Amino acid sequence: MKILHKIEDVRNFVKEEKGINKSIGLVPTMGFLHQGHLELVSKSLADNDITVVSIFVNPAQFGPNEDFESYPRDFDQDVSLLKEKKVDYVFAPSLDEMYPENFATKVVVSGITETLCGAKRPGHFEGVATVVTKLLNIADPDRAYFGMKDYQQLKVIERFVRDLNINTEIKGVSIVREKDGLAISSRNIYLSDEERESALSLVKSFNVVQNLLDEGERDADVIRERVIDFISGFKYTNIDYVSTVDPETLEYIGFIEDKFLLALAVYVGKARLIDNKIFEV
Ligand code: PAJ
Repeated sequence: MKILHKIEDVRNFVKEEKGINKSIGLVPTMGFLHQGHLELVSKSLADNDITVVSIFVNPAQFGPNEDFESYPRDFDQDVSLLKEKKVDYVFAPSLDEMYPENFATKVVVSGITETLCGAKRPGHFEGVATVVTKLLNIADPDRAYFGMKDYQQLKVIERFVRDLNINTEIKGVSIVREKDGLAISSRNIYLSDEERESALSLVKSFNVVQNLLDEGERDADVIRERVIDFISGFKYTNIDYVSTVDPETLEYIGFIEDKFLLALAVYVGKARLIDNKIFEV
């Protein structure tokens, strides 16, 4: 496994590998790797000749009061996990390499960035879209892999890749969960044992929704209220949003006709956790 820090070195190996008709898969991450990330890596290894994992904690996607400074990092452990998986290349650029002096460009996606996390974290998806555009331009992969845990992020990336004619197939990967159902996240390490119990309220609320649907409930606002009551009943929880939206446009759904996405963002202690599920009736 080769570890590269310079954009030019990535471009050189990409040219070489493509020259001998190797397909390239890219898995963008912010490091502190867990089973969720490693599932994306496994998919890329299965689909492509060469897999590149990028590790870069991207300041542009953190708000001024968010956890950029304290975001968990463990480069040595990441490298050993990726070696074990037999990943071909790790791209770990410095801040200056990605954002040199006088960097002045942003990729702005309208519409679908204006709901859910986009509404709650101004500038977040501009930061994501800008860095992912750069990574796709640098590695020029045939396929790139993103988790459905960050469902809105996946939709935003699909949108600008299509709009800007970027020649990469975007692959969405199902949410990887702990045995008890908690969606795996780098931010779960912020949870105390007691808070972790409360964190399960997110995935448990999916049963509340399914039961209401089974009883014939089709008013999304009623479902929303029941989910809010359920999650609020757990200690340490503070709801950021509970939303029912169209899984493609991410627009609000009030009456359920066929399917909808339930999207959740909840603070448990200081950790902001997200989860989601598509329900079909
Ligand atoms: P990060 O939070 O490190 O996540 C990297 C990728 O792993 C994302 O596509 C995310 O959706 C996926 N992922 C995380 N937890 C997962 C889980 N439990 N199951 C399935 N996939 C999971 O998301 C980012 O980094 C950044 O925004 C990035 C795309 C790298 C741009 O900076």
